[in-house]
Amino acid sequence: MSDVRLGAVIVLAAGEGTRMRSSRTPKVLHELLGRTLLGHVVAADRALDPDHLVVVVGHARDQVTAHLELIDPAAHAVVQEEQRGTGHAVRVALEALDEMTGGVDGTVVVVPGDAPLLTAATLRDLVAEHVRTGAATTLLSAHLDDATGYGRVVRDDSGGVVAIVEHKDADEATRRLTEVNASVYAFDAARLRTALGQLTTDNAQGEEYLTDVVALHRSGGLVVSAHLAPDAAETMGINDRVQLSHARRLLRDRVVEAHQRAGVTVVDPATTWIDVQVALEPDVELRPGCQLHGTTTVAAGAVIGPDTTLTDTQVGEDAVVLKAHCDGAVVGPEATVGPYTYLRPGTRLGRGSKAGGFVEIKASTVGEGSKVPHLAYVGDAVIGDRSNIGAATVVVNYDGRAKHRTTVGDDVRIGSDTMLVAPVTIGDGAYTAAGSVITNDVPAGALGVGRARQRNIEGWVTRKRGGRTDQEKQS
Ligand code: UD1
Ligand code: CA
Repeated sequence: MSDVRLGAVIVLAAGEGTRMRSSRTPKVLHELLGRTLLGHVVAADRALDPDHLVVVVGHARDQVTAHLELIDPAAHAVVQEEQRGTGHAVRVALEALDEMTGGVDGTVVVVPGDAPLLTAATLRDLVAEHVRTGAATTLLSAHLDDATGYGRVVRDDSGGVVAIVEHKDADEATRRLTEVNASVYAFDAARLRTALGQLTTDNAQGEEYLTDVVALHRSGGLVVSAHLAPDAAETMGINDRVQLSHARRLLRDRVVEAHQRAGVTVVDPATTWIDVQVALEPDVELRPGCQLHGTTTVAAGAVIGPDTTLTDTQVGEDAVVLKAHCDGAVVGPEATVGPYTYLRPGTRLGRGSKAGGFVEIKASTVGEGSKVPHLAYVGDAVIGDRSNIGAATVVVNYDGRAKHRTTVGDDVRIGSDTMLVAPVTIGDGAYTAAGSVITNDVPAGALGVGRARQRNIEGWVTRKRGGRTDQEKQS
């Protein structure tokens, strides 16, 4: 395939997508597994390495164009002012491309912006078949049990493709056909240009149908062929949120299966959601209820879950992360996290360190072998190696106006229920007494004590409560 030059890919994304019933998000910007509908389509297109990639935008064009710039800065958005049909959309795109390039030639691929399950492999096969057969048009088709709503592929007695007939324009016999048009095509640019100039709006919807190019080419004696999709699901177009969740499940299964085949143990695929850009090494184990988002990576031997969400988080070799919520964190090799642990952006856990139960850490480094085992908050702090942060310690990093930094050295023992009032530094090997409010630096090797000394008031109970507790009095 690499020897075949692909002139351009045109993505159709100007439609409103009314069936999503969203006043906020245009249809092609709805998300599944870390990418928008448009993002999935553009990623598959990019894999073909086209000279140009244009996306036809119309409804919510500002939002869609801004998103396109983010996901694929080299792509061009072309505005279709009025949605006068798929044929009109391609005409607008081709005119813009011709202006951009001085005339596109070779193969032009057209895909809808709402088909996130379409794979690069299928697009490649479509283009290869198109080039091999010297066709003017090659369309992607699929057999569906329920073809309602789709354009039907009409063939002649010898199996040649004659036309696409839209559902709304089809008679009873045509509606019984189960082979549908996926709205994915490879065209010869020059012949496409000619046919687009001949489209009419003489149909049930009063639109310029791209599908009419098929009959125009065929009646002009040109080769038209159909490439059957290996999996009908690939041709699925998303029109509403029911189809969106259905497509998300299918994509989830595809992603999970690819990781399983590459050596990842996934205990319960049905409750495991892995974004398409997540990277997992062999011998990772994912227990039930895991969601791995964004640019998360997990190294060999790590065990994630159950019930863990990782977003843009890096987990090192042989680490264990259970019942945790981690966002923008780095979990070092052999570190342990959880249960009920919240790691926020900028958290870096060193090799063999620990963030235990009911611990929240933000923008802080925990050194090698150091432990924050229970019920603590650590924010804007650097903790050295082999230190222990006692239960219920709070790094008091905020004074109501600004955040301040805390430094804890190596081999430190912070006593339980210590308040480390930032900015403050605890030297190497220092201790703090349990229950201390530490407002001044503690030098290396010292014990910091910052609490009221206990006093006992002799005879208080006899004087104030007649020598008995309230409970004893009632009995
Ligand atoms: C289209 C095909 C149909 C096929 C089906 C597959 C036509 C006439 N029909 O029908 O044969 O079976 O897809 O899903 O092509 N769009 C624009 N500008 C427009 C109109 C549409 O950009 O003026 C975009 C839409 O945003 C969408 C795509 O083109 O991404 C397809 O349009 P849609 O109206 O959904 O076509 P269907 O009726 O589904
Ligand atoms: Ca559609």
